[in-house]
Amino acid sequence: MKTTARSVRALKGVRPLVCLTAYDAATARMAAEGGADLLLVGDSLGTVVLGLPDTVGVTLDMMIHHTAAVSRTVRDRLVVADLPFGVGHDSFSKVLNACRRLLQDGGAQAVKIEGGTSLAPVIRRLVDAGVPIMGHVGLMPQRSRARGLRRQGLTPGERSQLIADARAIDDAGVFSMVVECVEPSFMPSVTAAVKAPTVGIGSGRGCDGQVLVIHDLLGLTPEPPPFARPEARLHREAVAAVRRWAAKVRRPSSR
Ligand code: KIV
Repeated sequence: MKTTARSVRALKGVRPLVCLTAYDAATARMAAEGGADLLLVGDSLGTVVLGLPDTVGVTLDMMIHHTAAVSRTVRDRLVVADLPFGVGHDSFSKVLNACRRLLQDGGAQAVKIEGGTSLAPVIRRLVDAGVPIMGHVGLMPQRSRARGLRRQGLTPGERSQLIADARAIDDAGVFSMVVECVEPSFMPSVTAAVKAPTVGIGSGRGCDGQVLVIHDLLGLTPEPPPFARPEARLHREAVAAVRRWAAKVRRPSSR
């Protein structure tokens, strides 16, 4: 049965949600055949696929191009596309138009937006317009140039801001939310504070589900983040395969 925003939301308290990023036909097939409930075309696209230094350079056209590849390949899973850097702070008509393009041209079924209390009113209007929204709070990589990349929820001030952010987007109608790099001992409080399922990355086990960048899981990233714990070493195996083939090609007898 196809997963939808509604079926994902209904999983809270029933069973953990399994989410993976995908950026093209190959990663979409691997994630879906491996049993992921939700495929996220994250703007990590910029760093893991396009060789950019961070997610800031990822444009709407790049997101649509890769979302279309994923949604053409896998039809029975919820495909969620990231709203790129800065777009959420545009005028509402521009935000709605960007979401429309991700859904209509990219074939996504839902859009993920990084942001808490400041973006909750925009999220509410998008949900009202019929766009299923996945939230993203805690560490927000799109703000890394201004705020750096560091664990969240360490001080009492950060903890109350995190709860306020999570509650604001929950009230605005997100069907689930990514919670990134939050102090694991505080994560159960965030999960208990909201009705939508929390999907953690680097936030420990106190979440309603987990998401990983598929390149980190498969050992395709040279330096995966410490929490990722690769289940395979595909980069190493691929290099070894290329070396074997190159050696065969160079062997005089094979000419
Ligand atoms: O861009 C992305 O891939 C993400 C996940 C890491 C949650 O936001």
